[in-house]
Amino acid sequence: MLKNKMKEALNKQINEEFYSAYLYLAMSAYFESTGLKGFANWMMVQYKEEMDHAMKFYRYILSHGEDVKLMAIKEPPNKWKSPLHAFEETLKHEQHITKCMNDLVDIAEELKDRATYNFLQWFIDEQVEEEENDREIIDRLKLIEGSKHGLFMLDKDLAQRQYTPDTGE
Ligand code: FEO
Repeated sequence: MLKNKMKEALNKQINEEFYSAYLYLAMSAYFESTGLKGFANWMMVQYKEEMDHAMKFYRYILSHGEDVKLMAIKEPPNKWKSPLHAFEETLKHEQHITKCMNDLVDIAEELKDRATYNFLQWFIDEQVEEEENDREIIDRLKLIEGSKHGLFMLDKDLAQRQYTPDTGE
């Protein structure tokens, strides 16, 4: 059983994760339409990972015998000024998600909900990795600014990213 405050906050996080998925799917479409297929692939993998995050919260709530409440997903933008702008927005969004995770941990601590506290630790670690990945790509985009060759090489690297389905283990 989850306390109401915890349940509501976890349900809200499902929505945050679905919005993240939606945002990165929109970015994938944007990159593909501008001919950057590697960038589009990277964002498509990100989209799938966000769907997995949403489902982790979904399963966690249900595993406690509680109701899942799905909310309307906000419309994401569909254009960015440049690849750098898109990745800066990605980092900003992930910083927001990190704050959401920290707030959830605060609620779990306040309610002495050890199970949820433990469940959230995976996400706390994941956020460090997500922000680091975004920063790395932002740094590379700043280094190659104005170089078509540099952008082409980075696109080739980002094409290598592969999705590994989350088996929940
Ligand atoms: Fe689900 Fe990118 O955090």
